[in-house]
Amino acid sequence: MTSTELKIPAHVAIIMDGNGRWARGKWLIRTAGHKAGVSALKQILKVAIDLKIEALTVYAFSTENWKRPHAEVDFLMGLFSEYLAKEIDEMDEDDVRLHFIGRIDELSPALCRQAREAEERTKANTGVRFNVAMNYGGQDELLRAMRAMAAEAAEGKLEPASIDEAVLEEHLDTAGLPPVDMVVRTSGDLRLSNFLLWQTAYAEFWFTKTNWPDLTPACFVEALKDFGRRDRRFGGLKNK
Ligand code: IPE
Ligand code: IPE
Ligand code: MG
Repeated sequence: MTSTELKIPAHVAIIMDGNGRWARGKWLIRTAGHKAGVSALKQILKVAIDLKIEALTVYAFSTENWKRPHAEVDFLMGLFSEYLAKEIDEMDEDDVRLHFIGRIDELSPALCRQAREAEERTKANTGVRFNVAMNYGGQDELLRAMRAMAAEAAEGKLEPASIDEAVLEEHLDTAGLPPVDMVVRTSGDLRLSNFLLWQTAYAEFWFTKTNWPDLTPACFVEALKDFGRRDRRFGGLKNK
């Protein structure tokens, strides 16, 4: 499948859910599911690279995921660090521009540094813009943007009446990225779980019961094909 046969969304957002259920189905511990999830992510990123998707944003850890047991949170943080260390060379070779969204500064100093170094290293790359949401919440992101704008207004640098969609977007973690065209969520739950609340205003949703570690490149391509068949009207009339 080449990009010319598909109507490629500019920005795909993925809620990588179901690692725990995948593990339970195999009588494994939850952390085994998270490990398997990393392999799935590697494959899906390759599809995004091959098909020249402009931006791919994946939900790795939400502001709500701190509610999980300490051991699982620790494991996930270790896994992110391991993933970054192992994959950064190949991502750079593949011309991927890596970016982290969310409250990265509140992660451990070592992980935060690793994330910032990876961003710095790949910032001149011109291929897929790969965004990893870590300690990310859509409501939190909007609050941070609102606070930043309020501070600028208080300093006299921003005229409140000039705040429009574009100004707000410049203050979001996704500044400079196109709006989300398609949201993919695996493992059967039909919700956003506080992901990219502003950016998904006109996104197409694609849900599958398949757990994240089992999502194959072929399955992802099916989602992209389905996207290509959607009639996106944006409030207007039929677009086909
Ligand atoms: C998604 O899988 C990974 C993270 C949220 C970090 P889950 O861990 O949520 O898996 P389920 O939903 O319990 O199956
Ligand atoms: C959403 O999955 C967050 C990530 C995939 C990182 P959750 O498993 O945390 O979502 P809920 O709890 O089912 O809404
Ligand atoms: Mg889940």
